[in-house]
Amino acid sequence: MGSAILFAACTSKKATTRSTEATAGEVKKNYTEADLADGKAIWQGHCNKCHKLFEPTDFNVNKWNKVLPTMTKKAHLTDDEAGKVTAYLVSNAKQG
Ligand code: HEC
Repeated sequence: MGSAILFAACTSKKATTRSTEATAGEVKKNYTEADLADGKAIWQGHCNKCHKLFEPTDFNVNKWNKVLPTMTKKAHLTDDEAGKVTAYLVSNAKQG
């Protein structure tokens, strides 16, 4: 009897080629879950000072990429913090 070798299917969620998802895919590659958790904490702590806390799903990836460079400066985040916040928001953004 040969033993059956079970290949655990790598559940790689394949990003399609739409540009928004490519960006989210880059985030997945470059940031760990811990980074994203940091990003979430920083977002909650810094992004509601001047206006309500906008949810990741309030905007799509394109919009986030457009506003975040300005907003992360307004919030006086370091490059590291800004990267993590961006990663968190982009990877949870509204589709489309
Ligand atoms: C120092 C104040 C200040 C801080 C801190 C700040 N913002 Fe803003 N934000 C603004 C102002 C003012 C506007 C509207 C005018 C503009 O777009 O510059 C705005 C607009 C926005 C918008 C656009 C909303 C829309 O309906 O188009 C988003 C999204 C946003 N901020 C997200 C963030 C995030 C995420 C952070 C944290 C990294 C953040 N903001 C931190 C002042 C701030």
